[in-house]
Amino acid sequence: MTGTELAQETSAHKAKGGIGRSLGPWGVFFKGFVQHPVMVGSIIPSSRYTIAKMLGPVDWDRCRLFVEYGPGVGTFCQPVLDKLRRDGALIVIDTNPLYIDYLQRTITDPRFTAVLGSAADVEEIVGANGHDGADYVLSGLPFSTLPDGVGPQIVDSTHRVLRDGGAFLVYQFSNKARDFMARRFTRISSGFEMLNVLPCKLFWGWKDPSPAAVADACRVTEADPATMAGTPA
Ligand SMILES: C[S@@+](CC[C@H](N)C(=O)[O-])C[C@H]1O[C@@H](n2cnc3c(N)ncnc32)[C@H](O)[C@@H]1O
Repeated sequence: MTGTELAQETSAHKAKGGIGRSLGPWGVFFKGFVQHPVMVGSIIPSSRYTIAKMLGPVDWDRCRLFVEYGPGVGTFCQPVLDKLRRDGALIVIDTNPLYIDYLQRTITDPRFTAVLGSAADVEEIVGANGHDGADYVLSGLPFSTLPDGVGPQIVDSTHRVLRDGGAFLVYQFSNKARDFMARRFTRISSGFEMLNVLPCKLFWGWKDPSPAAVADACRVTEADPATMAGTPA
């Protein structure tokens, strides 16, 4: 979806007086699927088992900014907010105004920001919200059906926006997402969750510090007399 198409859809959506006021989250999610089946890619939200397994490896103490792509009706949002530091932030990005409107009305936590836009623009969105990088990025995007070129663009910008030591967390019904991730992430761990409609694959792409950054850190440590003083002979 282009920026112009997004803007047109948002105006049409506002003209109808907002959506989902009487629908519960599953109703809103299903309505979004009927409107954009290819972009949404699933008829019901992720299960609590998928959420727990996907978020399991996150080090919440170090997480200052958590970003989510394709939050839908916010299945992951409250579990993330429940674990996030009090001074942390959660930014979610979705192309569907129906979902962004619903999230803005239902989640009032001051650490939460819902942005109507594309995951491909994550760097601009993170910068515009006052952050210089993200610690974790979670994706529920249907990588298999994204328009040509968008998947690689999203993986590249995600790798750039992540801080060293951070991770790209991805769940999908197929291995396609892993193929995209492998263009930038050299260390990818994987898992599987049966109790989800449909059962899904989980991937964690780790952004390790570059060899140059590690070498720099070692040089600084070796040259620091304070560090050397405590070193046994
Ligand atoms: C399978 S749904 C994810 C549902 C939700 N995260 C869950 O766990 O139940 C995929 C979501 O990705 C969104 N989406 C598709 N393309 C996108 C893009 N380029 N940037 C951001 N969101 C996108 C859709 O609007 C939809 O909300």
